[in-house]
Amino acid sequence: MRTFEISIPVKAYTEQELPQEWRELVEKAKQATENTYSPYSHFGVGAALLLDDGTILTGANQENAAYPSGLCAERTVMFYAHANHKDKVFKAIAIAGFTGGHFVDEPISPCAGCRQVMIEFEHAAKQDMVVILYGAKETYIFPNARCLVPYCFVEDNLKG
Ligand code: THU
Repeated sequence: MRTFEISIPVKAYTEQELPQEWRELVEKAKQATENTYSPYSHFGVGAALLLDDGTILTGANQENAAYPSGLCAERTVMFYAHANHKDKVFKAIAIAGFTGGHFVDEPISPCAGCRQVMIEFEHAAKQDMVVILYGAKETYIFPNARCLVPYCFVEDNLKG
């Protein structure tokens, strides 16, 4: 037998250190939290998706009295993007969480369902989608979506 580790490359930036190229995307994710429909969790999430033509689309979490019928901010924007811009590649996604009157200090972590959808589109496009998780104290930047799902299941696995 052998053991091995799968490591994840992540860069952590304070708001002042955040690279210029991602500032607008992060700002849009923060603004998108205003469009949350979260009367149950009172936890607003905004996601901003950058397409390869420079378009930025946004989404926010949408809840429902029948809880499983709601949808996270990330999937809301990714499904909208593919439904309306299916030939465009997703270059980056920024995510922000807002609760109790302020943005969360630590970056929020996309749920496993959203990660699986991210790697689906990333794999289909054969191009990295940068994942930016905003936190008021620190923002984490991952170079692609698949590093958030180590040893992931994608289309290739269906071929056996
Ligand atoms: N939520 C998101 O929209 N994205 C995440 O990455 C984590 C959780 C939403 C789902 C639900 O509306 C609320 O946050 C609390 O879980």
